Amino acid sequence: MRTRRSTPLGFQPPAIGDEEVAAVAEALRSGWLTTGPRAALLEDRLAEYLEAEHVLAVSSGTAAMHLALMALDIGPGDEVVTSPITWPATANVIEHCGATPVFCDVREGDLNLDASLVANVVTERTKAILPVHLAGQPCDLDAIHELGLPVVEDAAHALEGRYRGRKLGGLSDASCFSLYATKNLTAGEGGLVATNRGDVADRIRSMRLTRRGDGSRYDQLTWGFKANLSDVLAAIALVQLDKLGHHAELRERQFALYDEGLADLEGIEPLARDARDTHALHLYVVRVDPARAGGTRDEYQRAMAQERIATSIHFLPVHLLTWFRERYPAQPPLPVAERAGEEVLSLPLSPAHTDEDVLDAVDAIRRVYVRLTA
Ligand SMILES: Cc1ncc(COP(=O)(O)O)c(C=O)c1O
Repeated sequence: MRTRRSTPLGFQPPAIGDEEVAAVAEALRSGWLTTGPRAALLEDRLAEYLEAEHVLAVSSGTAAMHLALMALDIGPGDEVVTSPITWPATANVIEHCGATPVFCDVREGDLNLDASLVANVVTERTKAILPVHLAGQPCDLDAIHELGLPVVEDAAHALEGRYRGRKLGGLSDASCFSLYATKNLTAGEGGLVATNRGDVADRIRSMRLTRRGDGSRYDQLTWGFKANLSDVLAAIALVQLDKLGHHAELRERQFALYDEGLADLEGIEPLARDARDTHALHLYVVRVDPARAGGTRDEYQRAMAQERIATSIHFLPVHLLTWFRERYPAQPPLPVAERAGEEVLSLPLSPAHTDEDVLDAVDAIRRVYVRLTA
């Protein structure tokens, strides 16, 4: 067995090479820094990749979801059902529209929205469902679509995902992706909305940026945001898109190393992956069952930090965060999400890591396990 690392291992460092640096330099020298030909090319290439009629590049995954909900006319008095196991942005964008997030519990295996429970929280005010493809595992879209409400997907983790063979992107009213620093396709910051609905695409196009037209006169016909993606960032994403297949192979290898290296540790279980779907392999999340693993998730996380291995938590249940708790004091308990929030631990995963790095993380967790179960 290896020993403790002499250098720290980062959680999800970006995999950026000379090609991205050169593309940024070229964009900077082109004389066009804001949204322009590079953002347009990124949209065209991603529409093809995501098998969607329209892709709109925006400033963040958060903006993508906000604009998609606005395009569906979600507003004050409306409710949107969503998952509590997500980054707060998913619930925040519902609030940004003046609507109310309604949290529904998740499934035990993959911690995605439990479609069988959604009907219990739907009211006449429910105007949409905002499910999340956690860690890259597509949620149960067929069951969610059967509820007959508009669906906006939080696909921030799931660019490469396929649900029952079909590419995520054109399956719901809108699918929203993130180009944030840790994401499988990064621009540092940025987001995308994919949709087959021309009306949704048109509305987002006019809301994301108030254009000056020919420069002489301008007007504004709808809500005006500043949520466009700069060409400098689009240049990074275009290079990352060329590398996506190679990076996916590296992620696949790292998943396999974790699967194999942790298989015999009782009480350390990875989230379920459905073989009928293509998992986007964005996060390797394990659940730490304190009754069998000899320690809590927090104890494991602290011990891993001592081993110089950075880990993360995806996610603390949003309804338990202070602002949401205080805003919705009558929120009923969501037992599956609340237990998961105490047990999930995400392990280092990045195409910038080598196999040796991942084996270091595996060995570190094994050492911690031996110590805590002794
Ligand atoms: C599940 C999920 N949804 C939404 C977001 C928000 O994306 P962005 O940071 O690009 O606004 C993130 C993270 O960044 C996320 O992990």
